Amino acid sequence: MADDAVTPPSPGSLTARLSAASFVPPSKERLAEMLPDFEFQSVAGIGGMSVVYRVRRIVDDDVMAVKVMPPPYEGQEEDARRFVMEAKTMLALRHPNIVAVYDYGQTDDGHLWLLMEFVDGMDMHRTIRAGGIGAADAHSFVRQLCDAVQHAHACGVVHRDIKPANILISRDGRVKVTDFGVARPLAELARGDDGYGTPDYSAPERLVVGAAVDHRADIYSLGVVIHETLTGETPRQAARHGGARLPDSFTGVMSKCLMVDPARRYQTAREVGAALNLAIAEESAARRAAAARKSGAVLRPVPLAHPADLGRRRTPWLAEAGWALLCVGVIAAIAFSEWRKGHPHEDGGAPTFGEAVQALIKSVRSAGR
Ligand SMILES: Nc1ncnc2c1ncn2[C@@H]1O[C@H](COP(=O)(O)OP(=O)(O)O)[C@@H](O)[C@H]1O
Ligand SMILES: [Mg+2]
Repeated sequence: MADDAVTPPSPGSLTARLSAASFVPPSKERLAEMLPDFEFQSVAGIGGMSVVYRVRRIVDDDVMAVKVMPPPYEGQEEDARRFVMEAKTMLALRHPNIVAVYDYGQTDDGHLWLLMEFVDGMDMHRTIRAGGIGAADAHSFVRQLCDAVQHAHACGVVHRDIKPANILISRDGRVKVTDFGVARPLAELARGDDGYGTPDYSAPERLVVGAAVDHRADIYSLGVVIHETLTGETPRQAARHGGARLPDSFTGVMSKCLMVDPARRYQTAREVGAALNLAIAEESAARRAAAARKSGAVLRPVPLAHPADLGRRRTPWLAEAGWALLCVGVIAAIAFSEWRKGHPHEDGGAPTFGEAVQALIKSVRSAGR
């Protein structure tokens, strides 16, 4: 995520970049005082109400990430509660496609902090803006994203803010989902949804007060992410200028994720990943067949032998061999009878078959000499 992986940002430039957000982070010196176990190296990313730093843990030189949030406002205990919930949720979720959280706490002056693994790469939002994501990478990223979401759901957690800025991609192409800041246990959601999240990625039922919301809200967001990964826009943004076209293999899967009625969506994230795998396999098979047709090669399907066919298939072969033997026999009989007529015994009797064979062997031998 680091823009400037090792160069510490000057406090001035940091403040300027953050002016759009409402949180002015502490200076580098202040951060070092607040969390003396770490050397703050650079800004890894900026969220809605937090700054994430790349840090070096001084005791063992390990590179990690620290997310720093402002002190909760007076009377805004909800912020602190949400933060603790985020930390505890991420601590409980152990999965290769979910950012690992190691610790959390609050500094003396009230700033909240979260210590986690540092993902050396870029978030998906920036990756899309930096030049887009091709279909092969999109397939790999979405599949990994589905694994992460499936794991969270299996642990009873609904993320509720699946979007490119919360999906990190390491330099070696590994997806890591982060920011469980508005995640909720499924059981708690059943009592009502507080509506936190990002409108463009939110399932329609989340925008209706009192509507039932469950893990399928994340399936809807997966559909939005598939669309944005391939087109650079969310479906709502694209709709403003007549829509955008996706590769065929993604269209069907995305459309089913985006169904307004949750019952008509895929019911699990695993199903989304499996459907995408199948759609891509079918498309590449169709592409291979089309290329073969174009080059003139004829692809004939190889018939699979049914056990019942095996005996039947042997019959024509045996019949052909039988016919061949019969023909040889008939020709030999005609030749023998002709030979007999031309070689009568002195007493006028006809030679036997044995005599005919002996005469044949004799003539072959004398021809060989
Ligand atoms: N573990 C991490 N390693 C590297 N960069 C990160 C990490 N976590 C977050 N980031 C970067 O920081 C940004 C904001 O983090 P996020 O947790 O989403 O904050 P917020 O809750 O304020 O939205 C992300 O979009 C990403 O670019
Ligand atoms: Mg975020």
